[in-house]
Amino acid sequence: MIKEHSLQEILASYDAASPLQEASTIPGPWYTDPRIAELEAKTVFSNSWQLVGRVDQVEKPGQFVTARVTGEPIVVVRGNDGVLRGFYNVCRHHAAAVVMEECGIASILRCPYHGWNYGLDGSLKGMPEFDGVKNFDRQQNGLVPVKVEVWENLAFVNLNPTAQPLHSFLGGLVKRIAPLGVGKLHHFDRRAYDIHCNWKVFVDNYLDGGYHVPHLHKGLNSVLDYKEYSIENEDRYCLQSSPMISGTEDAATSSTRKGDRAWYFWKYPNLMINCYAGYMDTNLVLPLDVDHCRVIFDFFFSDVSEAAQEYNQQSVTVSDRVQGEDLGICEAVQRGLKSRAYGAGRLSVRREAGEHLFHRLLAADLKSGLSSSASAD
Ligand code: FES
Ligand SMILES: [Fe+2]
Repeated sequence: MIKEHSLQEILASYDAASPLQEASTIPGPWYTDPRIAELEAKTVFSNSWQLVGRVDQVEKPGQFVTARVTGEPIVVVRGNDGVLRGFYNVCRHHAAAVVMEECGIASILRCPYHGWNYGLDGSLKGMPEFDGVKNFDRQQNGLVPVKVEVWENLAFVNLNPTAQPLHSFLGGLVKRIAPLGVGKLHHFDRRAYDIHCNWKVFVDNYLDGGYHVPHLHKGLNSVLDYKEYSIENEDRYCLQSSPMISGTEDAATSSTRKGDRAWYFWKYPNLMINCYAGYMDTNLVLPLDVDHCRVIFDFFFSDVSEAAQEYNQQSVTVSDRVQGEDLGICEAVQRGLKSRAYGAGRLSVRREAGEHLFHRLLAADLKSGLSSSASAD
């Protein structure tokens, strides 16, 4: 009979104290056991600021965006008083989503199910055919608020009502990205990829310090000075960066990936920000279940005029090709992680410091999450 390991045993099987030279990755079960995914949802994703939309989508009173944060339906809406507010997008009547669209504008938030309606400030304004109901306090039945804050053109929510401010969460990243002027870029396009792998497989792939680039991404490799690729681990983010060279092998890549340096920021746990001259894409990695994730790419350019359409489109296509190359590998890794032949892997000291940081941060969160839920029981 195969013995089932407890969650404590699975967490204890990773040694977060090992220096990079001696470290292993987090073990296979961390990517495949549903109990780990559940613990991540309760700890990592319920306590961190999660990207839900762009400020330019919610500039005017009544403009809103909806999103899911670890399964929770969320709506962020600009009030008539100019204040941006976040709510659980869950009707207080029978739990339908009050706002169904991804984004838009409304003067009142009307639930499509039985017509209960809420003000832009979340207060319950009206309930059709509700006369005669006793002991019902309308004031107590507004939409339940959630913390929302913005940075550059990006809006974030945090499900933890006592969370630290967004700027403390982002830490040194704010200053580091400021000179790149990403707030001046304009949104152009969005792509979403559903991948048959655990969300951490995608993050690991991103954080391998370019290790896979010469093997998997020949086009991209032709414009990066691979030997000079640098990896800087900060407290809760990592910057991977490379000088650019003018490659000639791949015309589409070399014409759309420009500048002196490529900047690849990863913010724990699940956000990446990639910048070239006049270009940014954000990658948001959303766990769907232990075996699947969705990665949402948003593309921003300095020029989104009619004249720049074709160029921007080509740039998105280059990114799409790179994603296609990553996708197959990520799915193969997920299969391999379940194999009886695999336990955990070692890390390249030159390349894989970012993954080491990720695994240590995650281990710390999961271990403290488990001990606090154990003491609450
Ligand atoms: S569930 Fe919203 S009005 Fe009934
Ligand atoms: Fe890649």
